[in-house]
Amino acid sequence: MIQVTDNIFHLSNNNYSYAFCVKEGKLIHTYYGKALSIPEGLLQDSILSDCACGGRDWTQYETGERGRGDFRLPSALMRRQGCVGTDFVYKGYEILGKKEPFGMPALRDGGQTLKIMLSDEVMKAALYLYYTPYEEGIARRAEVVNLGDFPLTVEKLASASVEFPQGNYEAVNLSGRWGAECEVCRADVVGGIRILSSERGVTSHQHNPFLAVLEKGVTEEYGNVYAFNLIYSGNFYIEYESDEKSQLRVVAGENILHGGIVLENGEKFVTPEAVTVFTDKGLGGMSRLFHRLYRRHLINPKYADKIRPIVINSWESVYFGFDEKKLFELIDGARGLGIDTLVLDDGWFGKRDDDASSLGDWFIDRGKLPGGLGPVIERCKENGLKFGIWFEPEAVSPDSNLYREHPDWALHTPGREGIQMRNQYTLDFSREEVVDYIFGAMKAILSEYDISYVKWDMNRPLSDVPDNCVYDGYVKGVYRLYEMLDSAFPDVLIEGCSSGGGRFDAAILYYSPMIWTSDDTDACQRMRIQYGVSMCYPLQTMSNHVSVCPNHQTGRTLPFATRGAVASLGCLGYELNVAELSEEERAIIKKQIDDYRDNADVILGGELYRLLNPFTDGAFCEEVVASDGNRVYFVYCRLLNRPNMPLARVKLRGLEENAVYKIEERGKTLTGGELMHAGILPGAGCEDFSSVILHLTKLN
Ligand code: GLA
Repeated sequence: MIQVTDNIFHLSNNNYSYAFCVKEGKLIHTYYGKALSIPEGLLQDSILSDCACGGRDWTQYETGERGRGDFRLPSALMRRQGCVGTDFVYKGYEILGKKEPFGMPALRDGGQTLKIMLSDEVMKAALYLYYTPYEEGIARRAEVVNLGDFPLTVEKLASASVEFPQGNYEAVNLSGRWGAECEVCRADVVGGIRILSSERGVTSHQHNPFLAVLEKGVTEEYGNVYAFNLIYSGNFYIEYESDEKSQLRVVAGENILHGGIVLENGEKFVTPEAVTVFTDKGLGGMSRLFHRLYRRHLINPKYADKIRPIVINSWESVYFGFDEKKLFELIDGARGLGIDTLVLDDGWFGKRDDDASSLGDWFIDRGKLPGGLGPVIERCKENGLKFGIWFEPEAVSPDSNLYREHPDWALHTPGREGIQMRNQYTLDFSREEVVDYIFGAMKAILSEYDISYVKWDMNRPLSDVPDNCVYDGYVKGVYRLYEMLDSAFPDVLIEGCSSGGGRFDAAILYYSPMIWTSDDTDACQRMRIQYGVSMCYPLQTMSNHVSVCPNHQTGRTLPFATRGAVASLGCLGYELNVAELSEEERAIIKKQIDDYRDNADVILGGELYRLLNPFTDGAFCEEVVASDGNRVYFVYCRLLNRPNMPLARVKLRGLEENAVYKIEERGKTLTGGELMHAGILPGAGCEDFSSVILHLTKLN
C-alpha cells in the first residue's frame, strides 16, 4: 500500500513500513522496518531533529548527492561542463496504477508504483525514483534524463539507497570462488566504507549482488534483517558506510566505472531494479521472503513452482570424448531410470575435442556425429527422453572460423592482443550485429531439431573492453538474446550457467528458471554452496546433479544416497556415465527420482528452514514445509564422524504447534510442538557423510 499525507510517503503492508518525507525540497528518509499502523507524526523528519547541526552530512536522505555538503557514499554522481555534483529538488509525485516495463528484467506484475519527480535546474536534469511495494518487499529503481544542451555524464546512479539510524549492525554477504560459490560471510559493521562489487562484466563467482544488514545478534530465526539484491547481471556495487554517528547508508546499483555514461539532450539512463526485504524473523525469515517473492514475481510463471526436467548431462559423463556410439550408450543407459532429458554439453560443434577451439562455430561436428543430431534425438525419443543442448553464446575461440572471419567482433583494444582465459575471447555483445548473428546460429540448430532445453554457459569474465560504457551495452545484449530466444522458442527451457555459479543472479533467473549452481558436484561442497545460495535464491532455482565418486573436483567419495539427498534440494539431475552403473546404483537412482517426483511440489514450492549450518555445525540439515503445511521434506547429512559423538537433536520449524505429524519412515506420530521444541534424533548412520531423508505428513 502507498499512502501519501502532507508530503509524507509511506509504503507498507503487514510485513514492513518504509517512509520518507519532503523537507525544504529534499527527500528525508525517516523509517524502514516493522510495519507501523499510524505513520503520521512518527514518520516526520522531527525524529531526526537532533541531527540538525550536522547539516547535510548527518541527515538521512533518499538520494545521497555528492558536492553539496553530504560527504558520505553518494547514490547520484553526475557532471557536466562547469558543474560537478547535483542538488535534486522535489517536484512532485505520481502513483502509477501498475508498474511500467522499463526494458530490463524486473519483478513481474507489480501493482501501484510510487514515482517521485525531482529536478536539478543547474545540472538541467530530471531524476525519477520508482518504488513498487510487493507483499514481501519493495522493488526500486531510478532514472535520470538530460534536459540540457550539454552532454551530461552519469558516473553513478543507484537503484536504491537506504539509510539506517545509529545502531550496532552486522553484515552478511555471499563471496566465493569457482567451485565454492556463495560462502556466507558475516562481519560487524564498523566505521568506514565497504564495497561489494564486480568489475568483471558478469556478477561473478567472487561476490553475489546480495547484502543483508542485521541488527546485532540476529540468529537464523530471530531478529531484524534488512536485505538487498540487485536484478542485474553485470558490473555492480552494493556498498555501505557507517558514519561518525554510527548511522549506516547502503547504496546499490550498476557499477558504471570510470568515465561514466554520457547522455545527450533528451537521453536517459535507467538503473536496474533493486529489491529490498525486511523481516524480524532472522536470516531464515529473510530467505523465505526472497524465495516467496521470486517464486511469485521473478521466475517465469511457465516454470514457477513446477518440477523442471530431470536431466542426464553429458559433461562429467563423457566430457569432450564422445561420438554417436557413446551417446547412444548413455541414452540407452538412462532408459527406465525416470530421467526426462539428455543434455548434450560442450563438444558437439566445430572441431572441439578440448577447450582450445571452435567456440562461435555453432555447426555440428560431423566427425563425431556423422548423421548430425537427428539420430541422437531419435535414440532419445526411443528411450523416452527429450533432448537438450549446450551453447556458450558469448564466447569465441581464437581458433574458430567465426574469429577468423570477424576478429573485430571479439572484445578488444586496438593495438593490444586480447587476453585469453580458458583459451577464449568474449564477443562484444554490445553490438547488435554480433548478437543477431549468434541468435541466427542458435536459431538454425533449434529450428532444425526437436530441442526442448538449452544450457547457456558463460565461462570467463570480460577483459579488453575498449570503453567502460561497453559493459552496460554488453549486459543489455545478453538480455536481448534471451528475449529473442524466448519469443522464437517459448517452449525451450534455458538453464543458466557461468562456470557454475559465476552469474547466479536475479536477472538471469528472470529468464532462466534454474542456474547450474556450481561446477563443484561434490555433495560435501554442495552442502555449503547450496546453503549460501539459499540465503537469497529459492531452491527451485538451483540446478544440482548427482555425479560419480571419487568426485572429479575434490576426489572425495560420498554415499550415493547422500549425493542424491543434497541434489534433491533443488532441481535434481544426473551427471555421470549411466551406461557404466551397477544394477544396485541404477535401482538407487530410480528410487531417488521416484521420491523426488513425489515431493517436488513441496521442495520447489514450499518454505525452507535451514536447521543446521554446514559451516559451523558439522552437519547440513534443511527442512521444507509444503505451502499448505500438510507435508514436510527433511534432509540431514552428517559431515565428518567423530568418536562417541553427542546425541544431537534437531528441532524442526514452521509447523503447527498442536497438529499431529507422522514421520513416515518411522511410523511414529509427534505433535508440531514436540518436533519443534523437543526435536528429533535424525537417525543417520555414524559414518562420514551419512544422511537421512524423512517425510512427514500432517494428520489433522
Ligand atoms: C563450464 C560449465 C560446465 C560445463 C563446461 C563445458 O565449466 O560450468 O558445466 O558445461 O563448462 O565446457
